[in-house]
Amino acid sequence: MATVLVAGATGQLGMWILRELKRRGHTVRALVRNPAKLTSSDADEIVTGDLTAPDSLRGACDGVQAVISCAGASMNVNTFGDRKSFYDVDYQGNLQLLAEARRASVGKIVYVSLANGEQLRQTEYADAHEKFVDALRASGLKFSVVRPTGFFSFYLEILKFAAKGRGVVIGDGSCRSNPIHEADVAVACVEALASDETDLPVGGPDTITRKDAVLLAFDVLQRPAKLMSVSPGVFKLLIAPLKLFNRRIHALMDFGIAVTQVDVVAPVRGGQRLRDYFTAAAQKQ
Ligand SMILES: NC(=O)c1ccc[n+]([C@@H]2O[C@H](COP(=O)([O-])OP(=O)(O)OC[C@H]3O[C@@H](n4cnc5c(N)ncnc54)[C@H](OP(=O)(O)O)[C@@H]3O)[C@@H](O)[C@H]2O)c1
Repeated sequence: MATVLVAGATGQLGMWILRELKRRGHTVRALVRNPAKLTSSDADEIVTGDLTAPDSLRGACDGVQAVISCAGASMNVNTFGDRKSFYDVDYQGNLQLLAEARRASVGKIVYVSLANGEQLRQTEYADAHEKFVDALRASGLKFSVVRPTGFFSFYLEILKFAAKGRGVVIGDGSCRSNPIHEADVAVACVEALASDETDLPVGGPDTITRKDAVLLAFDVLQRPAKLMSVSPGVFKLLIAPLKLFNRRIHALMDFGIAVTQVDVVAPVRGGQRLRDYFTAAAQKQ
């Protein structure tokens, strides 16, 4: 079994990747900014490093056969203090890790981008991911890009809004997607270690419209649905001032507008269902 370095190990997806690697008997090295976020049972080795501080990565890939990177600027819209942009971390930061992986002659890199990334490049979020994918393709290293649709944890914002009696639909809400549980993405990432495919789009079992996702949240909460439709253009104007205060959150919301206006449907890889996830989350509220 291989020794695998996981960058982004403390994130929503990274924690599942650690579990999946351990379950399959790999030796797991977690690269983290804050080691206090993990315990010794999460990984065999925990190394401290920040993708935006190249010196901190020196030696991180030594003795490693493969790297999985799901490290990126925070996907949380509620962390206002975190100001690093998607270009800073997803692109430039992962380039630093790639350089270190090359220096250490790592055999394979699995990178987590997003479904339809190329088609959504007009957004900073998708462009940062795809700039790194371009660099990966040019690197000469063996690689696979896992391209998930939206994670269930990202859809939790819809449930939180519905719990407050609000359901926001951007545009007419008719575009479709098949969101996926992080645990199912983690399986795809670990299986990608042995795959010759360079692009692996992955989605969950249920293809629903954006409006359906909001209605599902109200249904699970057993509350009458109250929907408010906001046009993408108006939404863009509303979030514009955010750019002055936090470029990352603005970019994330701008992506949120763009991604809801196109179909983002990927081949089914996961078995977990959004209804069950919402139901479990609603019980905890
Ligand atoms: N969420 C979605 O719906 C979705 C869909 C498709 C693709 N993706 C992509 O999948 C990846 C994982 O998403 P996620 O939801 O798991 O994100 P997340 O929960 O925000 O986790 C991001 C991870 O990256 C780490 N990180 C951030 N900046 C770093 C830096 N400068 N140096 C080292 N590590 C750093 C974070 O560490 P800390 O714990 O220290 O902050 C965390 O472990 C991201 O690239 C995301 O864009 C997400």
